[in-house]
Amino acid sequence: MLIEIHATAINQLDGKIRDGAFKRILPYEPPLVLGHDLAGTVLAVGARVRRFKAGDEVYARPRDGHIGTFAERIAVDAADLALKPTNLSMAEAASLPLVVLTVWQVLVERAKLQRGQKILIHAGSGGVGTLAIQLAKHLGATVATTASGINADFVRGLGADVVIDYKTQDFSELLSGYDVVLNGLDAKTLEKSLKVLKPGGKLISISGPPDPSRRLRA
Ligand SMILES: NC(=O)c1ccc[n+]([C@@H]2O[C@H](COP(=O)([O-])OP(=O)(O)OC[C@H]3O[C@@H](n4cnc5c(N)ncnc54)[C@H](OP(=O)(O)O)[C@@H]3O)[C@@H](O)[C@H]2O)c1
Repeated sequence: MLIEIHATAINQLDGKIRDGAFKRILPYEPPLVLGHDLAGTVLAVGARVRRFKAGDEVYARPRDGHIGTFAERIAVDAADLALKPTNLSMAEAASLPLVVLTVWQVLVERAKLQRGQKILIHAGSGGVGTLAIQLAKHLGATVATTASGINADFVRGLGADVVIDYKTQDFSELLSGYDVVLNGLDAKTLEKSLKVLKPGGKLISISGPPDPSRRLRA
């Protein structure tokens, strides 16, 4: 489908691809157009597309190998598109696809987070964290999060039950018995996070490309 892009979003992944951090698993050849998120209007559809028509407002995270939303138009596989919710502006909708898919994959598909479980979400005031807190609460979990003290009320307002100011407190000394940790921070935070897990708990890290040498067990 050919899409006219009205809004896009800059994601950390764009910077990491630009810096070559993902070149072993995302072998893009520079120069290339970056950009993983879009909201826009359908200009034209392929002959076998039934779900959409020209003029529809849509949003998407085009699949790997077909990114390039920092542009005026882009061709996207119909399977990667959804109708834009009518209560979201184009800019609001463009801020969501990659980060929401990430959070869904972590909490629902990988962690299989259940009602009543305890999850630690690092960097709760960031792009991933703000959405992860809301989805975890929606799923019925108890949520602890790390953030700057200045953002404590903000993350509590999103639903966090326990807020750790990472600038003055050490989460690994305050928390224990957690079912899941979501880590988007560095390797040191990842290793310290093992301490808060209960036996058999899951630590899911999303800060870099997969590295088999860093496989750890709680
Ligand atoms: N965004 C995505 O769709 C996406 C997808 C896959 C992977 N990731 C990865 O996930 C990570 C986070 O991405 P993001 O987009 O959420 O980043 P972001 O929006 O830039 O958020 C960064 C957050 O990190 C917090 N922070 C910094 N140092 C911290 C520490 N020591 N302890 C706790 N919090 C700390 C900051 O909190 P304060 O402002 O409160 O200090 C800030 O809110 C990155 O590694 C990124 O590559 C992101």
